[in-house]
Amino acid sequence: MPSLDVAELLARRGREALRLNDRHVNPQFGRVLRTIGFDRAWARGEGAHLIDADGERYLDLLGGYGVFAVGRNNPAVRAQLERFLAAETASLPQMGVTTLAGVLAEELLRRAPAHLGAVVFTNSGAESIETALKLARAATGRGRIVHCDHGFHGLTLGALSINGNDDFRERFGPLLPGTTAVPFGDLDALARELRRGDVAAFVVEPVQGKTVRVPQRDYLPAAQELCRRHGTLLILDEVMTGLGRTGRFLALEHWGLEPDLVTLSKALSGGYVPIGAVLATRRVHARVFDSMERAVVHSSTFATNDLAAAAGIATLSALDDERLVERAGRMGALLLELTQPLVERHEVVREVRGCGLMWAIELQPPSGGLASRGLWQLVERGQPGLWAQLLTVPLFDRHQILTQVSGHHVNVVRVLPPYVIEEADVRRFASALDEVLDGLRRPPRAMTRFGLTIARHSARGVARSR
Ligand SMILES: Cc1ncc(COP(=O)(O)O)c(C=O)c1O
Repeated sequence: MPSLDVAELLARRGREALRLNDRHVNPQFGRVLRTIGFDRAWARGEGAHLIDADGERYLDLLGGYGVFAVGRNNPAVRAQLERFLAAETASLPQMGVTTLAGVLAEELLRRAPAHLGAVVFTNSGAESIETALKLARAATGRGRIVHCDHGFHGLTLGALSINGNDDFRERFGPLLPGTTAVPFGDLDALARELRRGDVAAFVVEPVQGKTVRVPQRDYLPAAQELCRRHGTLLILDEVMTGLGRTGRFLALEHWGLEPDLVTLSKALSGGYVPIGAVLATRRVHARVFDSMERAVVHSSTFATNDLAAAAGIATLSALDDERLVERAGRMGALLLELTQPLVERHEVVREVRGCGLMWAIELQPPSGGLASRGLWQLVERGQPGLWAQLLTVPLFDRHQILTQVSGHHVNVVRVLPPYVIEEADVRRFASALDEVLDGLRRPPRAMTRFGLTIARHSARGVARSR
C-alpha cells in the first residue's frame, strides 16, 4: 500500500491552502487575499470556471495569468497526458535527444513565419526572455538592450532589468548595466538609441500586457525597419500575446512582422506544466551554437522534458481542433463591443481597450457626486491605484467573477479569459461590470466601509496585487 493517495489528500486537506500558505509560503500574500476577500478554498477548475470547496462556481477571467487558453483541465489535452504517462518515455536522456521535443519544435515552426527556423526550449516566460537576451548578445557581439516603458518581461534578474515599472525593480539592484527604456510607440527615441550602433536587441511586446496597450498601426513595422538598419535584433515578446490570445496564432501576424527572436510560454502547455520556447532565425541560432564545444553553451536541465513537450503538442492540437484561435478573436471582439459603451455611460471610465482576449478598463476620478468623490479620495490617499480595487472586489463577491487590478499605481483592471469562454459568460461579465460601475456613482455604505479598510491596510503596504 503506498503511503500517499493524492485524491484522498485533496479531500482531507482541501480547505487548508491558506493556512499552509501563511505558515510556509507567503504570509503577506495571504493578508492581501483576506483584505480584499479573495480568500476562497479552490477545489476544482473546468473550462473558464473555478469551483470552490462549497461548490460555488466562479467565472475565471484571469486564466492563471493567461496560461489556461484552452480552458482549465481541457479534456483533450488531459487525455493525451494520461496516454503520455502510460507510455513511460525515456525523457531527458541528456546525452541524447527525444522525439516529443522535436515534434513540438516542428509544430511551432510550422505555425510561425517561414524565416524562423530553430527553437530553444525553456521553462517559463522569464527564462525565454533571458535566453533571447543571451542569444542576441552572442549573435551580435553587442551588449546594450533597449526596451519599453511599462513593458513586462518577467522578474528574474535579466528580465527585471528591462522591466518598465520601477515598483518591481525597487531594492533588487544593481541590475544589468546597458539597458535603456524608450516610450512604447516613440520611434524617434528608439532611433536615437539604435543609431549609437551598440544595441544588441530591441525587446518589445506587440501589445503591452500589463495594461493592454495596443500600438499605433505603423509602430512595430517601423521599429523592425529601424532595427534592421542599425544591425539590432528584434525580440518580440509573445509570452502573453502568443498562441492565439490576440485572435492570431502569433500577434506578429497582425503586422506581418519578421522578428529575429520570438519568446513564448504561458498558454503553450495548456496550463499543466511549466514550459517556454524561443523561436529564432537559423542565422541567429547558428551564430550562438557555432561549434561542437558550444553545442550546449545555453541550456537548462528540464527544458526539453517529455511531459512539457507532450502537453505542448496536445495544446497546439486542441487549439486547432476546437478552432480556439478564431474563437479568441470572436469573443474578444464581442467583449470590446459590449464594454466600450461603458466609457459613455460612466464618467469614472477613462478607456476600455482590447486586442482579442486581452482586455482592460481604465478608471479616472469622478467629478460629480460627493459620496463617490469622497470614496475616491479615501482610497487613493491610501495608495494611488486602489480605486480599481472597488471594481474587482464586488465583481468577485457579488457576481462570482475573478479579475484583478493590473499593477501598482494604475487604475486598470485587466482580464485574460480562457478562449473557451462562452458567449453568455462574456455578456454576464459586461452587465456585471455595468452594475458595479453604477454602484460607484452612489457608493453604498458597505463599499465605503470596504474603501476605508483597504486604504488603512494599503497604508501598511498589504493590498497591492502583482
Ligand atoms: C509579456 C511577458 N513576458 C514575460 C513574462 C514572464 O513570464 P513568467 O511569469 O512565466 O516568467 C510575462 C508574464 O506575465 C509576460 O506577460
